[in-house]
Amino acid sequence: MASPLDLPTLSLGDKVKERRIQERLASLCLSPERVQKVRDVFLEEMELGLASAPTKKSSLQMENTFIPELPDGSENGEYLALDLGGTNFRVIYIKYQDGSVVEEFVDYYHVEEPIRLGPGEVLFDFLADCIADFTKRRNLDTKQLPLGFTFSFPMTQKSLDVGILVSWTKSFNCPGVVGEDAVQMLSEAINRKGLKVEVVAVLNDTTGTLVQGAFLDRRCAIGMILGTGSNGCYIEHVERIEKWKGEHKEKEVIIDIEWGAFGDNGVLDFIKTEWDRAVDQESLLVNSFTYEKYFGGKYLGDLVRHVLLTLTKEGLYCGPASVLSKQGTLTTSLVSRMEKEAFEGKTTETLEALQKIGLNASEEHAAIAQYVAGLLSYRGIQLVCVPTGELLKRMSKNHCAIAIDGSLYEHHPRFKVLMEKLLKDFAPSYGFNLFLARDGSGKGAALAAAIAERLQRQT
Ligand code: BGC
Repeated sequence: MASPLDLPTLSLGDKVKERRIQERLASLCLSPERVQKVRDVFLEEMELGLASAPTKKSSLQMENTFIPELPDGSENGEYLALDLGGTNFRVIYIKYQDGSVVEEFVDYYHVEEPIRLGPGEVLFDFLADCIADFTKRRNLDTKQLPLGFTFSFPMTQKSLDVGILVSWTKSFNCPGVVGEDAVQMLSEAINRKGLKVEVVAVLNDTTGTLVQGAFLDRRCAIGMILGTGSNGCYIEHVERIEKWKGEHKEKEVIIDIEWGAFGDNGVLDFIKTEWDRAVDQESLLVNSFTYEKYFGGKYLGDLVRHVLLTLTKEGLYCGPASVLSKQGTLTTSLVSRMEKEAFEGKTTETLEALQKIGLNASEEHAAIAQYVAGLLSYRGIQLVCVPTGELLKRMSKNHCAIAIDGSLYEHHPRFKVLMEKLLKDFAPSYGFNLFLARDGSGKGAALAAAIAERLQRQT
């Protein structure tokens, strides 16, 4: 029976075939030397990203979020939060009393493809329509409510309530928003609808997760998303952020790393395989978001599919190739299910799923698919642990709680256990715990709005 802690193995009746497949897929196994190299490159890119006059452009944005404080138990009042980043958009209402949640509503709205790819103004009007619908149905429409906006895309932040979109990622590509302030566009749409809502904070989903994580566990200092896309943030000492010019009195601030783009400048090409290139080529935004494409939920299923397609073309796997040539036929949720079955020592469900998508699969093919799913998942987890381990070392806390949100982490059976093992290997002197902060990305936005008000009262 396979263990989530071990590198996957393949055992076929036909030993020649077994060896051929293993050799063909050897580039998917990251040796300790290559992991070390990824780590060295990450540290270099991190410093470049924080430098005031970098010698070259880093692929890590290391963005200042302007959130210098975490929830402190003094949260009081009613807040709205929006969470936009995936195909489901969330509107949230939370009422706090002395740092505790006393009332909470969450509604989901599906963002159809024409809105995800259509003009920016239409997208923001849609968001305002959802707020109008939510506040009306919940009888909140007569109240003046502050709002925190989780906008899960790379932004350049000028302050807590200004976020200029750097680029779209994942499944969004609305013309007319890159280079614009998302808060301004949202506020204009809110005003067009005449809603009594004021946007007081804009943040990334990792930041939301860290803030919500700190609300749940005061030791939280890392927020992470392992979902459709991936990213992480942490708490940095201000004196290490060379590029933050001008006067400021904060001691620490949350930095949004934007590790999804790690490697966009070519620094990680030494681990890039032909399958990573194939997934990138058919993605919405080619040549960008390199790291995220190695393991993000939007891509993991397609990576497995591309590997199987190669094996089919080389006579090592079943067909028809036309099934495996179609983007999206093999989903990340199927990868999670295949991994789960492999850990149970079974192949029944995997085989059924492969046949259902149209493959002429046998038991042996199910075992090969599980092997490929395992190799790619293992590699992805190694890659997630590189930056995380470095953050633990950098912050040097006795104990750091790591809040994670996202369906990949929640549903993939290998992530939590293997991450715990690898992080212990990568950062042996530092205590940590991983915990799921479900919906943290959105709920943290309500807390960010409360923090924004607190900061305003202090000035
Ligand atoms: C975005 C990040 C986000 C991550 C997880 C990436 O594509 O650039 O800002 O945090 O996805 O949602």
